[in-house]
Order: sequence, then structure tokens, then C-alpha cells
Amino acid sequence: MQQYVTLKIDNARVKAVKGASVLDAAMASGLCIPHLCYVPVLKASGACRLCIVEVVDNGRTKITASCTLNAEDGMVIYSNTERIRKLRKNIAELLVAQAPNSRAVQDIAVRCGVKEVRYPFRNDNCIQCGRCVSYCTEYSKANSLGFVGRGKNRHVEYPLGFRRDLCKKCGFCTEYCPMSVTPCGGPMKAGEGRLCGNCDSQIAAMEHFSGICVRCELGKGFKCVRQTYV
Ligand code: FES
Repeated sequence: MQQYVTLKIDNARVKAVKGASVLDAAMASGLCIPHLCYVPVLKASGACRLCIVEVVDNGRTKITASCTLNAEDGMVIYSNTERIRKLRKNIAELLVAQAPNSRAVQDIAVRCGVKEVRYPFRNDNCIQCGRCVSYCTEYSKANSLGFVGRGKNRHVEYPLGFRRDLCKKCGFCTEYCPMSVTPCGGPMKAGEGRLCGNCDSQIAAMEHFSGICVRCELGKGFKCVRQTYV
């Protein structure tokens, strides 16, 4: 028999299946916690950090990613405090600087309140969310893609050279890559820090439903957890 836990997220009582993550619990209840790297059918890696929340434990607060945090009975979670919004905005800004020409990254950055990016662009063409590696390993079981290198040299590749031959040509790595759709305003040029803002109307509509998932257009761009439930 399925067991359930009850927790509080942003003052709302939420019931979740035991073993579900806090992000799953929130989204299944119609609450919106911005997220990017998480895909329900895959193991959460906690790579993008956009889904951070505050967890209150014995009067103390810690900040952690909600996609890797198991929902537990009596938990108290805040996903939309001023501190979280500030941190999340900065994370989103860094992601845009890392990969300025991803529509999914730009959209979620706008959603997090980013209008302008203060960091120099790196044009890495990858935010190292690991979706491609996870699909290749866990879902397609090809084990063709992997992370190579450390620190700023870390990148996705066919490790050990021979792994390219293991590719099953399933295409999930590109389909679920946040880099696969170019921003609607076209590629950003060097020195441009402003996001196109074409999604402003969408954002304005969502502001009336702060913290509530409205199955927005933005979510479709990166196959948001909630969109995949529909
Ligand atoms: S760290 Fe949770 S969605 Fe990326």
C-alpha cells in the first residue's frame, strides 16, 4: 500500500507519496518552484541549483535543492522568500552568462527576475545540467556520453574516445538539452547583457499567480516537471 507524508510548502499543506522529492510534491500540488535540470524519469542530480528552497529544522534554516530533497512528514519548506529569490536570480544570471543563447535558460532567467546580466558571457553552449548524460546513461542505457575534466575544464563528451560507438542514436540527448532552442530574439551578441524581454507579458500574467504553477509557456521550452504530468 502506498504511504504518504504531509509537509508544508509556502504555508500550504501538501500531501506527497513517501519517497517523492520536495520539488515533485510541490509541483504535484500545483505550486511552482523554478527548476531546470530535473527530469522526473531520471535521478535528480541537483546540478542547476535553481530549485533551491529554505528548510526549517529545529528553528534553524538551511538552503538546499528541492529536487534532491526527500519530502518528509512535518517538514516546513519556503520556496519564495526574499533570500531565495535573490540567490535564485543570481544563479539564473550566471547560467545565462554561461550559455547566453539558450531560449530555455533565458526564459527561466526572466522568470527569476533577471533583466540584465552583469557577468561576462562565456558562450560555453552548455550549462552542464547533465540532462544529456543522464538520458544516455539511465534511460537509453547507452553509456555513451559522460562528463570529462574538472573545474572550469569540465565538459560533456564521449569519454575514453571509444564511447562514441556506443551511441544508440536515440536523440534524447539533444531533445532534452536546454540549448536546443535558440532565443526568440535571436542569438545574443558579445557585450549584450539584456534579455530580450519578449516574455514580459507571460511574466506579468504569472505575477498574479505568484508561486502557483500555471503550466506556463516558459515551462514548455525546457520540459518542466509539471508540463510532463499533463
Ligand atoms: S538543481 Fe533541482 S532542478 Fe536543477
